[in-house]
Amino acid sequence: MRGIFSLTMAPLLRPGALAAALLALAVVGVAQGQQVGLLRVPNRSPPTKANMDRVVLPVDNAGGFAGLWNILSENAGVSAMHLAVMRHGKAVMFDTTTTGPSLMQLPAGNCRVDPRSDPPGGMDCSAHAVEFDYNTGAVRPLKILTDTWCSSGAFDVDGMLVQTGGYFEGVKVVRRLNPQGNADWVEFPNTLAEGRWYATQQVLPDGRFIVVGGRRSFSYEFVPAAGQLNTQFTPLPLLQQTTDDVENNLYPFVHLLPEGTVFLFANDRSIVFDPQNGQVLRELPKLNGGARNYPASGMSALLPLDLRRGERLSAEVIVCGGAPKEAFKLGEANKFPHALRDCGRINPSKPGARWAIDFMPVGRVMGDMLILPTGDLLLLNGAAQGCSGWVFAREPVLTPLLYSPRKRRGARFRALAASNIPRMYHSSSAVLPDATVLVAGGNTNSAYNFSGVDFPTEVRVERYTPPYLAPELVATRPEIDLASVPANGVKYGDKLTLRFTSRGPAVTEADMKVTMYAPPFTTHGFSQNQRLLVLQVTAFKPEGNKYKITAQTPSKPTLAPPGYYLVFVLVKGVPSKAAWVKIHP
Ligand SMILES: *[C@@H]1O[C@H](CO)[C@@H](O)[C@H](O)[C@H]1NC(C)=O
Repeated sequence: MRGIFSLTMAPLLRPGALAAALLALAVVGVAQGQQVGLLRVPNRSPPTKANMDRVVLPVDNAGGFAGLWNILSENAGVSAMHLAVMRHGKAVMFDTTTTGPSLMQLPAGNCRVDPRSDPPGGMDCSAHAVEFDYNTGAVRPLKILTDTWCSSGAFDVDGMLVQTGGYFEGVKVVRRLNPQGNADWVEFPNTLAEGRWYATQQVLPDGRFIVVGGRRSFSYEFVPAAGQLNTQFTPLPLLQQTTDDVENNLYPFVHLLPEGTVFLFANDRSIVFDPQNGQVLRELPKLNGGARNYPASGMSALLPLDLRRGERLSAEVIVCGGAPKEAFKLGEANKFPHALRDCGRINPSKPGARWAIDFMPVGRVMGDMLILPTGDLLLLNGAAQGCSGWVFAREPVLTPLLYSPRKRRGARFRALAASNIPRMYHSSSAVLPDATVLVAGGNTNSAYNFSGVDFPTEVRVERYTPPYLAPELVATRPEIDLASVPANGVKYGDKLTLRFTSRGPAVTEADMKVTMYAPPFTTHGFSQNQRLLVLQVTAFKPEGNKYKITAQTPSKPTLAPPGYYLVFVLVKGVPSKAAWVKIHP
């Protein structure tokens, strides 16, 4: 049997979750001596001096409410090295078998054969993945057979999580997780042509995926259909050319551009290439100042694609933070250089394009960069010193930053309310359908270590409520009438008509915005496949006690690859809860 286990904070417990928690308590410790379900979080040792050396910026209150942090769960069972939000209303979180036992045990009789055990035949009874209910905090263990350490992923057209690579026996594996019911991982061994450890996966306009790079894999390849094996890959010399002695070019930043070409950033260089044949179409200027990719882990996003004035876009990519090139070497000598403070923006399709540089209020490495439903960016997690790698960072940055891409340079960053949980290496975050942000993971140790370390392994999960959900804006917040959401999705170029209510003052068309967000797969500070489109509103009218709004969906999959998107309706910048809408040919 597979139970639902919950040890949520009492005030958040709902009746169902309470029953689940009681069930979990009853189940732990039964059946053949194997403990199943959530294990207790071991006592954490008191914070060390290094732990208390944290960066908290003064909150910029001029913009009003600066957000709010809540604990969603004291123990998710696994530390969320990888995180994605599925369309069935749950998040999936997973770590790696390399860090050893997690705090979630698999159901009795369902252990994994550990291919690396010595002597052979040893069993691993830890769950390394969980399905996390972000409304109740309940967790369900999932069973991963092969090591997912530093792997990659993306959603297919049906919302299936297709997940690639990892370490050792997992390096060529493709895994699929169905977004419904009580599904579990289905694994396809030896599927990839090259090993993909620290690779980036990108969905293409035709719905296929490329997997780019990975340790000693200077190439990309297509993920074959389920059950088929891939034998071919296409070389990408840039990946070889940008490999420093400590790499600094893993988990490359990959973005699908509106032309259907692919932007690839590795270390400090970037190109645009044609994913059909690997042909390099353009090399962009170097982004000076240091390294931006693992282990110098900076952040990057494709800025929102604004379709309100038509589809002839000038897409822009942003790259922020990272570390000096020698940071990893210094880490080995117990030294932690300052993280990079700069942010570069470039339009990769523009001939002669240059990086436009701006500065964050504080340097950041291993941060996450999420696109919020409004089109602003949220920069969170990470550290002000050091780089990726076990125990190679100091000065966790607890202050999230809001980045407004449309404001003038120098006025784009706003310091928001800080968390009090350091989350550096192996932490993650995700935009939830309710427009809040799930923040999880963080493990700078080689195992689940809670004492005797500067930064205990983080199994707590937080929710950050951004400024646009300020208490005084509650009445303004629109609510989409779910009955109006097209059950079969929309085709490219269709009009999308939704009805919504708003309890605030009368809403006019000028107050409105409609955005659609591709839910990413986030790990190591990069949200693979993240993109947000701002749709053109073509009709708006009050209808009884509701409003009816029609938006123009993108006409082609180069703008938005097929799949499920979170569609938000915004009134005066306050987003609704999203509706999941599929866009397909
Ligand atoms: C972390 O935990 C593992 C497994 O219990 C242990 O072997 C290792 O020594 C611990 N590391 C530290 C720094 O305490």
